[in-house]
Amino acid sequence: MAADAAPVAVVTGGAQGIGAATVRRLARDGARVAVVDLAADGAATVAAEITAAGGEAIGVGCDVRDEAAVQALFEQVAARFGQVDYLVSNAGVTRDNLLHKMSRQEWEEVLDVHCLGGFLCARAAAALMVPRRRGKMVFLSSTSALGNRGQANYSTAKAGLQGLTRTLSLELGPFNINVNAVAPGFVDTAMTRAVAQRLRLSVEDFHAAAKARIPIGRLGLPEDIANVIAFLCSEEASYVTGQVLYVDGGRP
Ligand SMILES: NC(=O)c1ccc[n+]([C@@H]2O[C@H](COP(=O)([O-])OP(=O)(O)OC[C@H]3O[C@@H](n4cnc5c(N)ncnc54)[C@H](O)[C@@H]3O)[C@@H](O)[C@H]2O)c1
Repeated sequence: MAADAAPVAVVTGGAQGIGAATVRRLARDGARVAVVDLAADGAATVAAEITAAGGEAIGVGCDVRDEAAVQALFEQVAARFGQVDYLVSNAGVTRDNLLHKMSRQEWEEVLDVHCLGGFLCARAAAALMVPRRRGKMVFLSSTSALGNRGQANYSTAKAGLQGLTRTLSLELGPFNINVNAVAPGFVDTAMTRAVAQRLRLSVEDFHAAAKARIPIGRLGLPEDIANVIAFLCSEEASYVTGQVLYVDGGRP
């Protein structure tokens, strides 16, 4: 395939929220997209939407914690599209609890989805990117990496992804592969709405309290994050690597 063929993006957790917004944005920019999610139906629905709008996309059901499934995913993408240009490692879960109540399972589940999943996808993507001397990786970190009550597992995972980002930027830079992280603050998605439910707050009250802490005066939208991911995948960001970009409306 010609070097200037439309870029191919693999977006994990692409069935909803930030991942789905990223899929839509990258497709609009001309990328061919693999929409990857544990929820195979949701991934297929987003892929069908892109295809109906004239783009090129496939939906793939995959648990990013499953090494064999991740390997099969990248084999499928390579067979279908012939290349991988962007990896957006976005799949995520929360299992919040205070330390004394947090189970080992809650700890492992969150670390596995974010860190093990990110590592497995990065390794498989790099195997396709390195021979072409071309690629962009973006990991979804979070402001929670700086510490957040009730999120010992999640903040550890999100800080870990910052270390993975910096390390992979050193290892893969010589192969013309940029590796960066985006660290969102509060973004209105199913993930944050579930927190309201857990705290027994109405979504409206929960959102109002979050908004009051954000200097820019509004909640983040999935598209706010997708825009930054698209920039980091673009050639305009070709000298940006190893960075963690906080996209949080200036939350102190
Ligand atoms: N929403 C926020 O405020 C916020 C803030 C900071 C960081 N983030 C991060 O951004 C990313 C996207 O968050 P979101 O708010 O869109 O969440 P979301 O819950 O709306 O979407 C996450 C998606 O990941 C998928 N997923 C979960 N486990 C998976 C697995 N093992 N394999 C494959 N897919 C899996 C889910 O099915 C879901 O479709 C996550 O990594 C999250 O931690 C979100």
